[in-house]
Amino acid sequence: MQGARSSAHLLLLSCLCAAVATGYPFRMPLDLDVTPRVTVLTSGLQGCRRFHSSAVNYSTMFLEVDSEHLYVGARGAVFSLNASDISAGSALTIEWEASPKQKSLCQQKGKNNKTECFNHIRFLQRFNSTHLYMCGTHAFSPLCAYIDEKRFVMSSEPEEGKDKCPYSPTTGYTALIIDQQIYTASQYEFWSFPDIRRNSPSPTLRTEDAPTRWLNEADFVGSALVRESLGSSTGDDDKIYFFFTERSQEQSTTHSHSRVARVARVCKGDRGGHLTLQKRWTSFLKTRLICSLPEFDFHFNMLRSVFVMPGLMPQDTLFYGIFGLEWKNVKASAVCRFSLSEVQESFQGPYMENQDPGSTWKEYTGKVPDPRPGTCITDALRARGINISTSLPDDVLNFVRRHPLMSQQVQPFDRRPLLFRKTTDYTHMAAHVVHGLDGQMYHVLYMGTDEGWIHKAVEVKDQLHIIEELQLFEEPQPVTNLLMSTKQMSVYVGSPSGVVQLPLSNCRRYTSCYDCIFSRDPHCAWNGSKCVDVMAEANRSSLIQDIQHGSIGCEMMQYDIVQRSRSVRVGDDVLLQCELSSNLATPLWMLDGREVQGYDLNSGFRTGTDGLLIIEARQDQSGLYTCHTVENNIKVAIVTYNVTINLDLPLPPPIDPVRSISSILPPSTDQPSSEGPPSLPNHSELLSPRNMEAMYLSLITILGGLCVVLTVVLVYVGFCLRAGSRGKYSLRAAAAAYPSSKKSMRSRKQHRSSSHMELKTISIHCNGNGICNGVSKYNGSIQDGGFLQIVPGEGHTSFNKEPPPPAPPLPPTPQHTCDIPSGLSATLPSVLRRMNGNSYMLLRQSDSESTSPLCYSFSEELNRILEKRKHTQLLPRPDESSV
Ligand SMILES: *[C@@H]1O[C@H](CO)[C@@H](O)[C@H](O)[C@H]1NC(C)=O
Ligand SMILES: *[C@@H]1O[C@H](CO)[C@@H](O)[C@H](O)[C@H]1NC(C)=O
Ligand SMILES: *[C@@H]1O[C@H](CO)[C@@H](O)[C@H](O)[C@H]1NC(C)=O
Ligand SMILES: *[C@@H]1O[C@H](CO)[C@@H](O)[C@H](O)[C@H]1NC(C)=O
Ligand SMILES: *[C@@H]1O[C@H](CO)[C@@H](O)[C@H](O)[C@H]1NC(C)=O
Repeated sequence: MQGARSSAHLLLLSCLCAAVATGYPFRMPLDLDVTPRVTVLTSGLQGCRRFHSSAVNYSTMFLEVDSEHLYVGARGAVFSLNASDISAGSALTIEWEASPKQKSLCQQKGKNNKTECFNHIRFLQRFNSTHLYMCGTHAFSPLCAYIDEKRFVMSSEPEEGKDKCPYSPTTGYTALIIDQQIYTASQYEFWSFPDIRRNSPSPTLRTEDAPTRWLNEADFVGSALVRESLGSSTGDDDKIYFFFTERSQEQSTTHSHSRVARVARVCKGDRGGHLTLQKRWTSFLKTRLICSLPEFDFHFNMLRSVFVMPGLMPQDTLFYGIFGLEWKNVKASAVCRFSLSEVQESFQGPYMENQDPGSTWKEYTGKVPDPRPGTCITDALRARGINISTSLPDDVLNFVRRHPLMSQQVQPFDRRPLLFRKTTDYTHMAAHVVHGLDGQMYHVLYMGTDEGWIHKAVEVKDQLHIIEELQLFEEPQPVTNLLMSTKQMSVYVGSPSGVVQLPLSNCRRYTSCYDCIFSRDPHCAWNGSKCVDVMAEANRSSLIQDIQHGSIGCEMMQYDIVQRSRSVRVGDDVLLQCELSSNLATPLWMLDGREVQGYDLNSGFRTGTDGLLIIEARQDQSGLYTCHTVENNIKVAIVTYNVTINLDLPLPPPIDPVRSISSILPPSTDQPSSEGPPSLPNHSELLSPRNMEAMYLSLITILGGLCVVLTVVLVYVGFCLRAGSRGKYSLRAAAAAYPSSKKSMRSRKQHRSSSHMELKTISIHCNGNGICNGVSKYNGSIQDGGFLQIVPGEGHTSFNKEPPPPAPPLPPTPQHTCDIPSGLSATLPSVLRRMNGNSYMLLRQSDSESTSPLCYSFSEELNRILEKRKHTQLLPRPDESSV
């Protein structure tokens, strides 16, 4: 049942993109799968420092604003690292492993001796000015201990930790030390109820279980102290907020979600009740956090983590939440932001009530006792003689006991997520505010994924633009913690294998003025010759930056265009390489000033992610080719090729099998004189066969990868169309392919009559400014022209007709990752990432073959090209760059 529902939602999810972009006209459409602009693999990371030891599971981290040390809790050890360089050799260690006796007891309890029967450090914070406090699971028998900060040693024997620390390393848990009082929230033991506690000093306080259970299978992800006492020296209105997901109590008629995201709060000054609510919170209230796309009835109910962003004033505090879907096998994340004032408003609003256990919860409309239940004991109450929570009237306490839940739900900022991403599970995030050179304040977010990537994003016009995605680990592994320090200009990332320290920005990555402003990174600006870190520049007046649009400022800048020449024979296939560094850019090729139609089968050209392919070159295709990158509606030339296509070349010598798919360089000439047939390889350098082979292999890989992706998309799409039972969704062709939309319109018109698939994009692709060009401009024509009409079955039958060598197998079900033949698998993931971002495909279904599935023609085309390569010879010119 759950499984069926989850796959139904998976399908829905895959339809969402098209549906939102076309079907929700009242607001700027939300980019439903924000593409990171730049992809940086581990090999390209710069300025990254790492710490690891023999320990694993570096999941607890503690860093103070001005601290020089980053404290890290791992499995069986705690480390004190130099925060300015965690890889510096000065790390101090406290080894704290569970005793062998405790481990065997743990195993006897039936726990996993490979994961659970260790001392996982779960809590590590400052206790007082000289000591830290930590707790570990200690092989299912939690212990806590003080650390002498200066000497970095345990300062006393460990003490009992059962009431402060969960038993298992994976149970949801959050804890805070405030004024030497320890607040924790967890489901401490497997069989106990979840509980929010103040552990010391006495009286210890807890949440109530009867007659109304305040928490239901709560899974805690975070907590924060907000000092909201205005004008009070004693801080008597300060509150502690707890964030969690729990089983839903209120069965609302519209949705039947089993779990919901919540925020709860208690007053710091709470002392419990006198007779009623003795040793229980008198100020516990909770409310629901909403993060959804209501127009699609799509609700992100699982709160995975929160980041609390303090404001100038306490009431300006913001809560960022990372949310996921309830279905575990569906990857998707949304980031929603809530303001403290809206949360406070909910706690000031009506309560929910259920009269008898088992009945449904409804809004309470009766009389609310005075003082208002759940409020903190402030001066106003003291003036009325209520000095402490134990002196609250009994009717108030009884009301609190039975009305923990508020009726008004908390909506996110702008009533929708800031970011939505399919295929990514974010785990943790941090954010800060950066002053742009335009005088605006920008929120910059760092988000870690379950596969060890960091996405850096900036919020522009209420949407997130992902500046870059960084692969931190060769081995995919979840980001288990993430902290940020503006003092150290670093982000610290915890993971199972170690800790990574990243610089907040890496502006040097952008090598041209346009690249620098396209990035829209508030940390970076162009100073006339380099992309520099704004913080490090004393004179900011001449810096160029355009975060709002990512397009303005570089018009007057000179930049270099790489110039190359190629000389080939008639009938050859030529690949003119042009690699775009941005996933949001599209290539635009010009031949002698006219646009090359690289998407039309009959044009003899193919545009791909890494260049332009001239198929069976004709003499009239000679000329000056210029590759432009088009981003944010700006066209920037990056490389030119002077291509000469010669009629008569001396026949090549017989080619041995290895060299047959390699190409041979003509003698290199320093002048761009491509006229005259170059003499053949008597002495010049040969392009190494291996290189060429690798090139072809990667071409095959790319094609194979596209094939898999397309097949998956087709199957999804097919299901979507059939599963259109919900009626709200109509799937339209992903039409926002090219910023130069005229071109796509033109080609679309040509194909409209046959109206078969024209899969130029895998996903709706929007430029960084969040506007889907094609869709917003050409909505009408897309609707009649671009419906996808694909029957999944067709793909299978024709695919089997003539299975070409490099064709990948069809994925068994949409939600499983595809099996890819062994040779391809190594390179495929990174290739696919790029493909997904680049909004165009190498090949396209032609009219004449419109009934055959895509994979078939892909492979056929590839075969044809490769077959030809065996017989003809490719004669590229050397890549001399003569500027
Ligand atoms: C600890 O790390 C191992 C891999 O090193 C991983 O399999 C395990 O899930 C991690 N446990 C926790 C609690 O993070
Ligand atoms: C931390 O590292 C920085 C840079 O390597 C160094 O200057 C500093 O002295 C170190 N601090 C400590 C406390 O070791
Ligand atoms: C865990 O227990 C199994 C069986 O009880 C044993 O074979 C294995 O060696 C143990 N592993 C560790 C790391 O102790
Ligand atoms: C901090 O707490 C520890 C542990 O209770 C105690 O030994 C130490 O004296 C305290 N330090 C100060 C400055 O109060
Ligand atoms: C409350 O405190 C005030 C002074 O702080 C005191 O005068 C008053 O008697 C107290 N009232 C009660 C009911 O304890």
